[in-house]
Amino acid sequence: MAESSTDPRRQRRWWRLPATRVLAGMTTVAATAAVLVAAPGADAAASTLGAAAAQSGRYFGTAIAASRLSNSAYTTIAAREFNMVTPENEMKPDATEPNQNQFNFSSGDQIYNWAVSHGSRVRGHTLAWHAQQPGWMQNMGGSNLRNAMINHIQKVMAHYQGKLAYWDVVNEAFNEDGSRRQSNLQSTGNDWIEVAFRTARAADPSTKLCYNDYNIDNWSYGKTQGVYRMIQDFKSRGVPIDCVGLQAHFTGGSSVPGNFQTTLSSFAALGVDVALTEVDVTNANTSQYSALTQACMNVARCVGITVWGVRDSDSWRSSESPLLFDGNGNKKAAYTSVLNALNAAGPGPTSTTPTGPTTTPTDTTTPTTTPTNPGGGSCTATLSAGQSWGDRYNLNVSVSGSSSWTVTMNVPSPERISTTWNINATWPSSQVLVATPNGSGNNWGVTIMTNGNWTWPSVSCSTS
Ligand code: XIL
Repeated sequence: MAESSTDPRRQRRWWRLPATRVLAGMTTVAATAAVLVAAPGADAAASTLGAAAAQSGRYFGTAIAASRLSNSAYTTIAAREFNMVTPENEMKPDATEPNQNQFNFSSGDQIYNWAVSHGSRVRGHTLAWHAQQPGWMQNMGGSNLRNAMINHIQKVMAHYQGKLAYWDVVNEAFNEDGSRRQSNLQSTGNDWIEVAFRTARAADPSTKLCYNDYNIDNWSYGKTQGVYRMIQDFKSRGVPIDCVGLQAHFTGGSSVPGNFQTTLSSFAALGVDVALTEVDVTNANTSQYSALTQACMNVARCVGITVWGVRDSDSWRSSESPLLFDGNGNKKAAYTSVLNALNAAGPGPTSTTPTGPTTTPTDTTTPTTTPTNPGGGSCTATLSAGQSWGDRYNLNVSVSGSSSWTVTMNVPSPERISTTWNINATWPSSQVLVATPNGSGNNWGVTIMTNGNWTWPSVSCSTS
């Protein structure tokens, strides 16, 4: 696949171009105005799911299992097609805190590092859930469990601070009739969900906090209404919540309801992002895949779609062959229906103000600084461009001089750092990153979401 054909910047739709460029084109080639009007259709279509979604400011993701990262047939497809990754099991409580207050991030980090090195962002999944709890937690209740939940959220989020695009803070807390699901967490008090979200916001203000559930697709269903009322209540009382994830498992007997788009737009109208977070469809029915993609594309705040695995053989419900690639890695018919719907999409979450680079991100600041250090040593942080996509770019940072450096990076608003690698990161504010060595050496980097501004951050280096 030629790289140029997958580069979203080269397939920009007319509504993604700066207004001045569109107008200039219309003025200077007035005689071909009809051709310009037809430009959206004439654009080359993107040829991967991720690139197609990026054209409208969205992502297309997959669940990734750490155990499969050694399979090159799997990683080849995953790296090529997807630009968001959800660890299928590796960031769940039983994986990250197997013994109380002893944390294990090895598999989660493996997935995170793989994702970032392939230009993908990561969705954390999940912090508080009745299922896949470690044994020690299953037997807990009352204030012990409440405190353990708070500690779990704080420690896991601290480990990934500043790195994840989204976190599923709470998963599957409702019954089918819209009441709260009985669980050990629920038994600690009805406020456990809002405590989880408040704890999460304080632990990492840079990530978007989501509530995630299944069977909340049909707008007139009790469970959908129950979750809707909770989000409405949270927004009215200022409980921090940024997004609702609809798992969208249209397997095991369920299918895409006719009012699916109404559900998405109703949640979005509460002031939260919505996303389809774990999509699979029995036998990968093409019209259902196309309908669910179309519903997301029709809702500006539907930020992206994640399928729950790469190939049918990777699926947790593999007997239903519910994914977009067959066991041999071939694209199925549903793949094409999804790709076409993504390519035809109108403006999405970050494209209401047409943005995007026509060249590589510009360095309008001084990339290299050598500040003086009262202690006598000095260090230099040098920035260089990494890969870039329609909505974000990577910057590589190389530090020379002292090996005990501290680099402060200031990101101009509304840009935001979404991921970092090879550093210990702390966040004095959402626009400021303080980086120190984490034992990985002096070369590290960040992914910056542009939100329309491609100006490089400023950096300064000091030694201790
Ligand atoms: C599933 C995984 O796919 C399986 O590998 C695991 O055995 C059980 O969990 N809702 C969720 C996901 O939020 O975490 C679940 O993932 C599927 C249902």
